[in-house]
Amino acid sequence: MFQILINSWIGIGVVTFFVLLFISAPYGRHLRSGWGPLLPKRLGWILMEAPALYVIWIFYFLYGGFNNIVLVIFLCLWSIHYTNRSLIWPLLIDKNGSMPLVVALLAFIFNVFNASFHGYWFLLMDNYYDVSWLLSSNFLIGLCIFLFGMIINIQSDKILLNISKEKKGYQIPRGGFYKWISSPNYFGEIIEWTGWAIMTWSFSGFVFALWTTFNLLPRALKHHTWYKEKFNDYPKERKAIIPKIL
Ligand SMILES: NC(=O)c1ccc[n+]([C@@H]2O[C@H](COP(=O)([O-])OP(=O)(O)OC[C@H]3O[C@@H](n4cnc5c(N)ncnc54)[C@H](OP(=O)(O)O)[C@@H]3O)[C@@H](O)[C@H]2O)c1
Repeated sequence: MFQILINSWIGIGVVTFFVLLFISAPYGRHLRSGWGPLLPKRLGWILMEAPALYVIWIFYFLYGGFNNIVLVIFLCLWSIHYTNRSLIWPLLIDKNGSMPLVVALLAFIFNVFNASFHGYWFLLMDNYYDVSWLLSSNFLIGLCIFLFGMIINIQSDKILLNISKEKKGYQIPRGGFYKWISSPNYFGEIIEWTGWAIMTWSFSGFVFALWTTFNLLPRALKHHTWYKEKFNDYPKERKAIIPKIL
């Protein structure tokens, strides 16, 4: 059952990737009419991202994940990311603005499935993650990549938060990885979940890293085109999402 579900999940991810190359998800700067009822942006982010946090905790409570130190470390890292994404970051963004209910609903469904896949995988593979895992090259290399991605993601989001505090609308972001690319927050997010996949060496982790790329790569290309059209003085050497390449 798990295998069928997760394989279908990859298939849906591939389709989503091609759809998003042509149709940008209608939120943020790409918000447009015709996508049904709206809800406040801040509320939308909290509602749609929070399941990633509570669903995995429910799995741990139900199936005894707290008895395994490796799984507890995975849970802590996951919870740091999702506490920021579902609680801290939404409270810092500009509270004005809205997003279509359908976007929040799709992201909510995504997070329920993604957290369930992880919860199921970790507790199924409980014996596989004994304490020696913490000294494996997988864990150590993956953890470094994960933390590196998280730092880039948070630093880049912070640069955008500082711009939005000025209340002057969209500006050209500068500093950090913005020197090289238009969407370093997405770049950091992709690196982070790639590190996670390596660190956990889990099927659910690899599928999540793939999904993150399917979701954010097309959006980064759309952002880049949008920036170049909006700002005549947009830095020519800046790429969309991979420094010097794309
Ligand atoms: N794992 C995943 O699949 C996934 C999926 C989606 C998002 N995320 C993460 O969630 C975070 C937010 O995503 P997002 O799509 O909202 O990112 P975004 O388009 O870069 O926007 C982030 C925030 O900054 C504001 N902003 C963006 N560019 C700006 C500029 N040039 N000037 C002033 N303000 C600007 C946005 O306002 P507006 O909303 O008004 O544009 C929004 O509040 C990112 O860290 C992303 O990596 C992860």
